[in-house]
Amino acid sequence: MQLRKTDLFTFIHKAIRSIIYDAASNLQSIDFADINESGKLLASLQSQLELLHEHAVHEDNIVFPEIQINEPEMVKELNQEHKILEEKLNQVKMQIEKTDKVIDKDKRLEYGAELNAIFNDFAANYLAHMNHEEATVLEASFKYLSDEELVAIRTRIQTKIPPERYKIWLHWMLKSLNNSELISLLGGMKSGAPPQVFENVVGVAQSVLKNENWSKIKSQLMI
Ligand SMILES: [Fe+2]
Repeated sequence: MQLRKTDLFTFIHKAIRSIIYDAASNLQSIDFADINESGKLLASLQSQLELLHEHAVHEDNIVFPEIQINEPEMVKELNQEHKILEEKLNQVKMQIEKTDKVIDKDKRLEYGAELNAIFNDFAANYLAHMNHEEATVLEASFKYLSDEELVAIRTRIQTKIPPERYKIWLHWMLKSLNNSELISLLGGMKSGAPPQVFENVVGVAQSVLKNENWSKIKSQLMI
């Protein structure tokens, strides 16, 4: 029986979905008349958008070229979706800047409501795009690439991310996985990663997971 190969998309897409749900939920309920409060949210939204942009760049530069030869049409279509998403992401960024600059409360409320609508459009497209990738390029990666090649791609992505940034990704990823996924991910790291790396990951897990849940996972991992 062939074991399931390394999956380059599911965990990171879960992290991205959490980022989008979190941003959308905050954005629709924030009081834009409160400059301080909404200013903080706009800054955090900017950082969240950077993560989404970074993910698309990794797919464009590192993942898609590996599938290009076997599935040129598929990759062309997904690249096209990335271009559209990048344009929409830039519209969100511009609206964030416009909203952040304005002091007048009525104008701020107006621009904030526009920002919410622009973000909803971006988020809907991004979510549909990830569904599309999971139905196409994820399967293609299993079909055309060996597990060694998939692991090498994952390593190339990981080495591009500075440690502090990697911690932010881990934060979103670990809080987005279910228990069996967490046990499989952390169990793999426990046996395969350098002890210091594993300890750092455990530290992030401990800080993002609910105590009760973390205790369950810890006992299963025997740590
Ligand atoms: Fe993508």
